Amino acid sequence: MVSIKSEREIGLMREAGKILACVLDELGEALHPGMSTLEIDQLGDRIIRRYGCIPSFKNYNGYPASICVSVNDEVVHGIPSKYHLLKEGDIVSLDAGVIYKGYHSDAARTYGIGEISPEAKQLIRVTKQCFFEGIKYAKAGNHLNDISTAIQTYAQSFGYGVVRDLVGHGIGSHLHEDPEIPNFSQRRRGIRLRPGMTLAIEPMINAGRYDVSWLDDNWTVVTDDGSLSAHYENTILITDQEPEILSLL
Ligand code: MF3
Ligand code: CO
Repeated sequence: MVSIKSEREIGLMREAGKILACVLDELGEALHPGMSTLEIDQLGDRIIRRYGCIPSFKNYNGYPASICVSVNDEVVHGIPSKYHLLKEGDIVSLDAGVIYKGYHSDAARTYGIGEISPEAKQLIRVTKQCFFEGIKYAKAGNHLNDISTAIQTYAQSFGYGVVRDLVGHGIGSHLHEDPEIPNFSQRRRGIRLRPGMTLAIEPMINAGRYDVSWLDDNWTVVTDDGSLSAHYENTILITDQEPEILSLL
């Protein structure tokens, strides 16, 4: 069932989203060559708690950290490690979730470390734009598949692979609520969008083929062909006009 949030719930999700936007901005500023992915997690955990929030990923289905840190060919759900040091030219996807007074926000960004290749820059830019192409259709009366199709069409126009094995989701008093939101076109048009729905739209885009696998840690998702992957996610609210992006300042 896809829930419609009350004004009170929306207010809390706005707060959660603003805080999460600040968390990701602060983390992005802190990234530098030589930083370990565990340091990113520890800093993120501190920032989230400093805002009076709870990091929603910590211990979620046994996930051991507060921030998912995925480098280069890692797509999502990378596990922070003190042994994994960032280096110039890496691309790093940070995915974070916060709970504020019982309500969730979920967002992700991909950052470059120092000077990165033109190919990496384009992948990051296009992945972000995939989100914005998708939410052009995030309007009451449209169907979920309109969003999915727009994301896929845009990504594929650059020859990129749209990850199929992971999807976006509804969000609210739980991190993952109905509906599932694929980033690729479905055979059915999906639910009709209504004001008060809150959704986490999260294109995961590979520079090469879309196939991915899970590492032996059972979390880290990597591209099968070793190509770079980027992730961009925001929590949004469907309104009777333009969607409101809750996790952006
Ligand atoms: N943004 C991710 C998602 O929506 C959250 C990571 S799941 C966790 O699935 F287990 F790492 F928390
Ligand atoms: Co998500």
